[in-house]
Amino acid sequence: VTQHSRSSGRPPSFTYQAVHKGFARAANSSLYCDRVALSTLAERYGTPLYVYSASGIRQRTAAFESAFRKVSHTVCYSVKANSNLSVLGMLAKIGCGFDVVSGGELERVLRADKQAARKVVFSGVGKSREEMKAALKAGILLFNVESASELLVLADCASQARTLAPVALRVNPDVSAKTHPYISTGLHEHKFGIPISHARALYRQASQSKYLRVAGVSVHIGSQITDVQPFSDAMERVAELVRELRADGHSIAYIDAGGGLGISYEGADSSGFSKRVVQYAQALLRPLRGMELHLLVEPGRSIVGPAGALLTRILYKKTNGSKRFLVVDAGMNDLIRPSLYQAHHEIVPVITSPHGRKQEIVDVVGPVCETGDFFARDRDMRKAKEGDLLAILDTGAYGMALASNYNTRPKPAEVLVDGKSAKLIRRRETTSELWRNEI
Ligand code: LLP
Repeated sequence: VTQHSRSSGRPPSFTYQAVHKGFARAANSSLYCDRVALSTLAERYGTPLYVYSASGIRQRTAAFESAFRKVSHTVCYSVKANSNLSVLGMLAKIGCGFDVVSGGELERVLRADKQAARKVVFSGVGKSREEMKAALKAGILLFNVESASELLVLADCASQARTLAPVALRVNPDVSAKTHPYISTGLHEHKFGIPISHARALYRQASQSKYLRVAGVSVHIGSQITDVQPFSDAMERVAELVRELRADGHSIAYIDAGGGLGISYEGADSSGFSKRVVQYAQALLRPLRGMELHLLVEPGRSIVGPAGALLTRILYKKTNGSKRFLVVDAGMNDLIRPSLYQAHHEIVPVITSPHGRKQEIVDVVGPVCETGDFFARDRDMRKAKEGDLLAILDTGAYGMALASNYNTRPKPAEVLVDGKSAKLIRRRETTSELWRNEI
């Protein structure tokens, strides 16, 4: 294990290990995922390639389980972060529930584990009738309803299905999550949730329907939140509302605290992930002290983000005036976070040699015909050459999930590594698959 993994305090999903050649002393270091060399995977499956660490995902889930162990709770993994069936199946096996935001995500979860429905919460600001019907049929745990109109439609669907829909209202607590504006959701100017001040009236309305069963309150203030204070602020408002609702005679069994715990993309997470989850748990639980309830949390990024990397190969090096570019074979269609949110991802060489210590300032860019197609700008990196492999770190969340076929580029393959075994969990798309549905 070399400098990189030690100094950044990352959980051991991706680490450098010395490569021994015959009797020679270790010449190079190679980046591994668990016990598999990434260079081997790139050769076997090609690039661009997403690689995930099963043990990384399990350890991070275990950190949540441990931090919340003293209260009745369910970790409902947020499927949108990484919805590969093998990842979902693995999480179902270790007892996770799921947060879904579409009929498609619900189907994925059921495909991964038929029994999972009773631990599914359905969020989202625009659920269709078809989606509601499917979720009612599956028998999910909770609908997080986001408007008065949605409540009426849900009651109607439940009456047609002659069933009772378990309901939480997603309230908007008007708390700033201090994160990127595109992924901040808890302010009154955002489209999400019901203003917390209107909630009581709407709960009264819900409880009057024969087809709705008021069961909880939910909140989600945004994503990639690194300061835990906003979680506490939101929970305080939710706790107050729950007390009022109980006084009004509603039976509120669940509080769904949403997701949003951020990760350290700069690699400076020195206090360790488990500790951060404990701080997060304390922030959520402090305002809820003494209350009888079942807590739901919906982490996505913090479970899968650091457990994934995108492997890409340098196609060309070029210089335009004073700018140097590494043109790689992955593009913004494979990983859009840098283009969309100016997100920072560490990019490291897969093979490092003790001799190649020179640095250079480069833009790492993809082949897509947009200036926004970049992974890093003016980045000080270890000097690399054409043909070298790079790993773009912390891409297990919202990487493949946001991938597209822009420029008619087939989506990458995905591999799940567990110890020394590596399993292909999604084949690389072929071009003919891309026009399969065209007429
Ligand atoms: N629950 C709800 C209702 C959500 O809307 C989200 C994320 C989560 C849970 C999971 O949040 P997490 O724990 O992953 O932060 N594409 C963006 C992130 C969008 C997040 C959307 N909602 C990105 O790449 O940063």
